[in-house]
Amino acid sequence: MKNLLHSSDLNRQEILALFEKAGRYLPLVEGHQKTNDAEGYIMATLFYEPSTRTRFSFESAMCRLGGNVISNSHMEFTSSAKKGETIYDTGKVVSQMADILVMRHPEKDSIDDFARGSDVPVINAGNGPGDHPTQGLLDLFTIQSELGRLDNLCIAMVGDLKYGRVVHSQCEYLSQFEGIRFLFISPEELKMPSEIVESLRAKGFEVVETEDLEGNIGEADVVSHTRIQKERFPSEADYNKHKGVYVFTPELMKMAKEDMILIHPLPRVDEIDPVIDEDPRVRYFKQIQYGVAVRMAIVSSLLDL
Ligand code: NCD
Repeated sequence: MKNLLHSSDLNRQEILALFEKAGRYLPLVEGHQKTNDAEGYIMATLFYEPSTRTRFSFESAMCRLGGNVISNSHMEFTSSAKKGETIYDTGKVVSQMADILVMRHPEKDSIDDFARGSDVPVINAGNGPGDHPTQGLLDLFTIQSELGRLDNLCIAMVGDLKYGRVVHSQCEYLSQFEGIRFLFISPEELKMPSEIVESLRAKGFEVVETEDLEGNIGEADVVSHTRIQKERFPSEADYNKHKGVYVFTPELMKMAKEDMILIHPLPRVDEIDPVIDEDPRVRYFKQIQYGVAVRMAIVSSLLDL
């Protein structure tokens, strides 16, 4: 593995090998401890879009590995991008000063240009509505850790399946496993891109597309909920049409299986009533710890530690 740019970069074996490594790092994360595996290495994080978890998660992972971090969370305003520097040049330049680069950008193709410029490994922390390969991995690691399997599952993906890059990554990774039933629950205008649906069907997976959450939630072993991606809509009026759809409440949770798990990449806006945070099936805060362990595993693999 040279870079992690797209969820399609990893096969089943590589995913499981990363999870084995992540499982070894997890007790350090849970115990607030560190190793010195990455001592002397520098990570640069370059974010052109807002982030809370993903950037801190990478930086926390690097610190727990004993490495150092240099960071710019406002690249779009304070870097030489403002002066017209290309993303290729930015990759080239920063790779002379750091050993591994993490980048988030609103444009889908930016990550490939950036990685072409870089002389060191690059990790995609989200490229517009395209892909979010490390979030998808941590979601699968959550499922494996909590349910003990990644095959033979029914997963319901709920919300903004059109613009939500996290569900796109989940589909790509899950397509490496067997016996997955996909329930895509979204408003008609926010359906999963047809290329993804067709590619899953072509691989033999059962895919159901519906707008009906209440009628289908009872089937799912995993519910993967997502925020309506306000920043990707052409106008506020378009966004407002979908605001407040699919709110998870105690009543809705009563319709779900007793042993299902509910995951969400966060941030949540209004799609989860905080009253359900205490429900034992909720995993969206535990996911954050899994995320640091998975990112430690990714960094350590890319740096060949
Ligand atoms: C997601 C993202 O940025 O795509 N958040 C995250 O990385 N944890 C989901 C979102 O913003 O809705």
